[in-house]
Amino acid sequence: MDAMNDVDAKADPLNPPNDDPAKSRGFGRRMKGDRGTPVTFTFDGQLIEAFEGETIAAAVLASGVRMLRETDRRGEPRGLFCNMGICFDCLVEINGATNQRACQFSVADGLKIKSQTSQSMEPCP
Ligand code: FES
Repeated sequence: MDAMNDVDAKADPLNPPNDDPAKSRGFGRRMKGDRGTPVTFTFDGQLIEAFEGETIAAAVLASGVRMLRETDRRGEPRGLFCNMGICFDCLVEINGATNQRACQFSVADGLKIKSQTSQSMEPCP
């Protein structure tokens, strides 16, 4: 059995089930082991536990969240794609600041992160 299959998502407090089919497929995974200092933040009001040094993208992905934003014109779901700051598919709102790339920001205790909807995005100039 490999390490990824060694995780029981239902029994792991770091893998809370996410039953919202619009935002998750409900299969968040986090490998066991000492990962450093734990931190908590909210994503769309859901409390997420992570570890210092992780990106927001990695932390929400591990919690089972797949959708980070909607496209501005059609409202289509987008999530982590390049994971290196190039595609801008991971834009989220961080403590009220819109259009922040989740793959480029580290988690911190108490952050309030929201997915961006087509209504919450700032209009293009
Ligand atoms: S996933 Fe591409 S910029 Fe963040």
